[in-house]
Amino acid sequence: MSSGGDIPKKARERAAELREQIRYHNHRYYVLDDPVIADAEYDRLFDELVALEADHPDLVTDDSPTQRIGGEPLTAFDSVRHQVPMLSLAKCTTVEELEDWLKRCRNRLERDEPLALTCEPKIDGVAVTLLYQDGRLTLAATRGDGETGEDITANVRTLKAVPLSLDADDVPALLEVRGEIYMAQADFQAFNAAALEAGEKPLVNPRNGAAGSLRQLDPKVTARRPLTLFCYGVGRIDGDWSPATQKAVLDGLAGWGFRVNPEVEVVTGAEGAEAYIDALLERRSRLGYDIDGVVIKVDDLSLQRRLGTLSRTPRWALAFKYPAEEATTRVLAVDFQVGRTGAVTPVARLEPVFVGGVTVSNATLHNMDEIARLDLHVGDTVMIRRAGDVIPQVMAVITAKRPKDAEPVSLPDGCPSCGSPIVRPEGEVVARCSAGPRTCPAQRKEGLKHFASRLALDIDGLGDKLVEQLVEADLVREPADLFRLGADTLAGLERMGEKSAANLVAALERSRETTLARLIYALGIREVGTATAQNLASHFGSLEALMAADQAALEAVPDVGPVVAGHVHAYFRDDERRAAVEDLVEVGVHWPAPPGAGGPAPLAGETWVLTGSLESLSRDEAKERLQALGAKVTGSVSGKTDCVVAGPGAGSKLDKARKLDVPVLDEAEFLEILNRHGQGVGGSDDAG
Ligand code: IVH
Repeated sequence: MSSGGDIPKKARERAAELREQIRYHNHRYYVLDDPVIADAEYDRLFDELVALEADHPDLVTDDSPTQRIGGEPLTAFDSVRHQVPMLSLAKCTTVEELEDWLKRCRNRLERDEPLALTCEPKIDGVAVTLLYQDGRLTLAATRGDGETGEDITANVRTLKAVPLSLDADDVPALLEVRGEIYMAQADFQAFNAAALEAGEKPLVNPRNGAAGSLRQLDPKVTARRPLTLFCYGVGRIDGDWSPATQKAVLDGLAGWGFRVNPEVEVVTGAEGAEAYIDALLERRSRLGYDIDGVVIKVDDLSLQRRLGTLSRTPRWALAFKYPAEEATTRVLAVDFQVGRTGAVTPVARLEPVFVGGVTVSNATLHNMDEIARLDLHVGDTVMIRRAGDVIPQVMAVITAKRPKDAEPVSLPDGCPSCGSPIVRPEGEVVARCSAGPRTCPAQRKEGLKHFASRLALDIDGLGDKLVEQLVEADLVREPADLFRLGADTLAGLERMGEKSAANLVAALERSRETTLARLIYALGIREVGTATAQNLASHFGSLEALMAADQAALEAVPDVGPVVAGHVHAYFRDDERRAAVEDLVEVGVHWPAPPGAGGPAPLAGETWVLTGSLESLSRDEAKERLQALGAKVTGSVSGKTDCVVAGPGAGSKLDKARKLDVPVLDEAEFLEILNRHGQGVGGSDDAG
């Protein structure tokens, strides 16, 4: 041991100061997700500490933030016996089972009134236990079989979200913290993109990524993996700390600098838990990390002790499992679909499999590059994923299961719909049918489906099957033809009664009255989504002005770059397309002049965020009305947000808004603003 006597006092003080600052910023960034300095400033502090420690190696302490980069490789992991076993959870999938469990708890406790419960997302990662002795991280271990795990201290020390030391003076002398290590979805994607770029093998999914990263013998490899954790409980504790509830445990941990899930809530009884389960499922695909359910725990720790543990699972906790988002199945064929812009997309036909709560038999393969990346053959067993409303994706091919007769996939020469040559312009990933919608029935069908879709002209009752029939019978060639269909013609179609024919005619009548933004979106111009359509409508104010705009005028529209401007320009320079658009006006499609045409829109320049659910209108409708008033609607709250509309179920966005002092409106206040600006929710009774 060096006495440290030869190290200048100034260097030692500066090192201590830098460590404290870096620890503070680590906590802000990696634990609270709320940094207060720019990355470059953080890097400067870090580099200064690295340089100082290089000059004075005796200054290095094992809890210095520089010591996270990973030490020497191991030859094997040591076994660790858990002093308090790491239990697993009883599982259920239905509310009946959940209610039965609660009934059993209440019976055992001889209680009539409902129990207070914590509801926590069940993180899909790798369980870990962290041992702190006198505030220093001394051991990190995997769960193993629950009794004995593996010592992964060297790897876990590289995670920035894991405190290496705790400096509060109320930390128990021995504190064992339990949590789940995982990889956030965005980090997983970025890691894979970089791996592909470097010609390395991508990770199959975030969970495998986390598990594989922790199984590395070389901690330097782990250090490069974007891992983080949520802490959800404690193991052994020696010292002065006696929280009364699970919530108090979590609050205590958060107070000492551990990362605790902000979605945790205390609810009452089955009803409260069920509402939480539904609300979290609705947000599942927006959380940013994989979860496989909700963990429900009796909140009161004295009641937990009374309930006790049944061999390997506690009686006081239950995992409510959501439908799995991933499954393996076989690729039966690869077909090619032609979209409304002629894009030819390969689609995998799958052996039907239940995933994400539905039976899936198709998955998009995006383009030929994706097929090459996956090295996908017909006959392969693949891992597919269906998360939220996102269309099912093929994540990976399980090459070990490839049959001998598996066939590689190639792009066909001709369009499967019209036979025209398929072209793939230099530098583009997308292959296209070289014909347009006038020649290619698939493009016509897809264009009409888009035209009728909910965010476009929203023609009720004009489903995909019906569009296909109409095109195949050559009754409709372009959108305006829809409005010329009579009830008699429609009633003559297969599976169409007189009543549904009359309903469709009425729906068409209603959708004649629309907005300019919806009409622009409905045209299906390449890369013009709802937001761009809205911008084009507000900017030009009329269809005539839009149709007359040249490339430069189009590029002057907010968020419209040269590529999109080029697509819009080309669309309206095509005589037949112009004629088809004018024909729509001819058949009576009309819209009010958008606000902003006669003066600035009332919410122009403002950024709004919607969170939680609203009763009188859907989020899409709320968004559309806000955009019509000139507001920009974004998905996350920041210092630039002008207003947040929060309905029931609002979570972290609402918290953040309060933290940042952003005004928050409830539904009634929001409706009042809409009303004031002529965007009120009418007494429409056509629900259902
Ligand atoms: S509590 C005795 N809470 O789920 C209770 N576990 O089967 C022990 N997990 O691998 C677990 N999120 O790591 C608990 N909020 C959470 C959790 C959670 C994920 C994992 C846990 C274990 C498995 C339990």
